[in-house]
Amino acid sequence: MGAGGSTDPLPILTSMPAISATAPGKVILFGEHAVVYGQPAIAVPVNQVRARAIISARPDQPGGSIHLQAPDIGLESNWEDLPQDHPLVLAIKGVLKATGIEIPPALTMRITSTIPVAAGLGSGAAVSVAIIRALSKFLGRPLGEIEISELAFEVEKLYHGTPSGIDNTVITYEKPIYFMKDNTDNEGKMEAFQVSRPFTIVIGDSGVPSPTAAAVGDVRKAWQNDKNRFNAFFESTGEIVNQAKGAIETGDNAALGPLMNKNQDILKEMGVSSEKLERLIQAAHQAGAPGAKLSGGGRGGNMIALATPESARHVANGLIDAGATGTIITTVEMQQQGFKVGE
Ligand code: PMV
Repeated sequence: MGAGGSTDPLPILTSMPAISATAPGKVILFGEHAVVYGQPAIAVPVNQVRARAIISARPDQPGGSIHLQAPDIGLESNWEDLPQDHPLVLAIKGVLKATGIEIPPALTMRITSTIPVAAGLGSGAAVSVAIIRALSKFLGRPLGEIEISELAFEVEKLYHGTPSGIDNTVITYEKPIYFMKDNTDNEGKMEAFQVSRPFTIVIGDSGVPSPTAAAVGDVRKAWQNDKNRFNAFFESTGEIVNQAKGAIETGDNAALGPLMNKNQDILKEMGVSSEKLERLIQAAHQAGAPGAKLSGGGRGGNMIALATPESARHVANGLIDAGATGTIITTVEMQQQGFKVGE
């Protein structure tokens, strides 16, 4: 991983402008939980919400000094004063190792995000990706997507136990992906695929934090107690994911609603839905959505509903009336290449 051990001189940084990079949120359209057991899943970026890292040089400070500001979570600290396994510290250490730079020039890094936290929208992975992209650029050794995604995955592993790697992947590449976990500890395989006809999704926030690691752990226990039953859930989910991929590629968007409903039935059987999520899913159906399901780890967090550009506002209002604490309307389409590293 990375350029490793280079002794090239660092660029002169005193007159360097601030460097910023952003990364989007994400939702899983199909296949959560089963993806942890080797089945495919489909995830898409959500560009309406983003994490941002802005880095400016502090030429008056000694090398190695990194001042972190994350006002959204009330954090302002020098990095050496944070626990060494703090996710921000891990992301920074990962970049230094990958770029082979032991002592970075003094800098301030400001991190902001509009992605709701613990809501299944990938806020942690997006912050990591924004930091990794901005810092490697600032250091004059910009990392490529493969390395960025791998480094963000390392941070995810320390925080989410056994993540599949889907979050860091979709957030790094910023396009719809069909993803399959590796059997090893490594990152999984991803395939970008065509979205023939754009479609609209309404995301509804249950307002209840989604305890992804606990939900993944409970599914594992339930699988250990009844492998036949859970393996059948995972295999049926994999079939739904493949049918959904085919429908998206051929522009058969009408097929997606029933597939979302089938996926939700299985997630409910797996025990990862909740009363609140079910209420929101029902409200989406009542507002005319042909398909709705939870998205991500479940128990709380977000649900998604299929809509049209015309019906989306009505579905979103129905979700708010049923108790959603926020909604996002997003269009799934082929994303532009390019990774939004700016100055
Ligand atoms: O809660 P989220 O959006 O981070 O997604 C978790 C998705 C799972 O399939 C449940 C776990 C994983 O690592 O893929």
